[in-house]
Amino acid sequence: MKLTAADIVIETLDTSGPLPMALLLLADPSEKMIQSYIYRSRIYVAVKAEQTIGICVVSTDDADHWEIRNLAVEEAFQGQGLGQLLLQHVIIEASKHQVPHLLIGTANSSVGQLYLYQKMGFDISSIRKNFFLEHYDTPLVENGIPCKHMIMLEMTLR
Ligand code: ACO
Repeated sequence: MKLTAADIVIETLDTSGPLPMALLLLADPSEKMIQSYIYRSRIYVAVKAEQTIGICVVSTDDADHWEIRNLAVEEAFQGQGLGQLLLQHVIIEASKHQVPHLLIGTANSSVGQLYLYQKMGFDISSIRKNFFLEHYDTPLVENGIPCKHMIMLEMTLR
């Protein structure tokens, strides 16, 4: 069954409190990497019946290019449209702040995510070659494909 905007509340999370690390680790397996961006980002969380079931972390350092660094949905709620609701929320927030470009990166091996982001209107813009080989301690494999490069996708908002 699909979730709709009426089923959830999307809130901003203050980094001074506890972070939903298990959720963040679903999208990014390196806690060290998460720590490197989380404290200088906007964090949007999707809450359903007081449970945090989704998260979207956006780096806003560059006023011209906000970058979605982490998007994750609790496993029990995946495939119900929440990823798309979170992305739509961030697109609206970036537009409200008159940010011209929104970026999102995912692995060469993340075929479902590449489908989702292009379906949402993001266009492949560049490749950060060997990003995962150089920034992660253990080799990552997904869908039987070695995870090596970060595929960057961009959406122009104005
Ligand atoms: N494999 C195949 N298809 C997928 C996948 C996947 N891994 N993920 C999403 N899709 C497809 C769905 O089939 C759906 O297509 P449809 O609407 O045409 O049927 C569409 O993409 C979106 O589905 P949603 O239900 O909105 O996606 P969901 O709520 O599951 O959120 C997300 C997507 C965030 C990728 C979630 O599955 C998740 O948390 N996965 C694990 C963590 C992860 O990979 N995060 C992204 C890493 S990249 C980054 O963080 C910037």
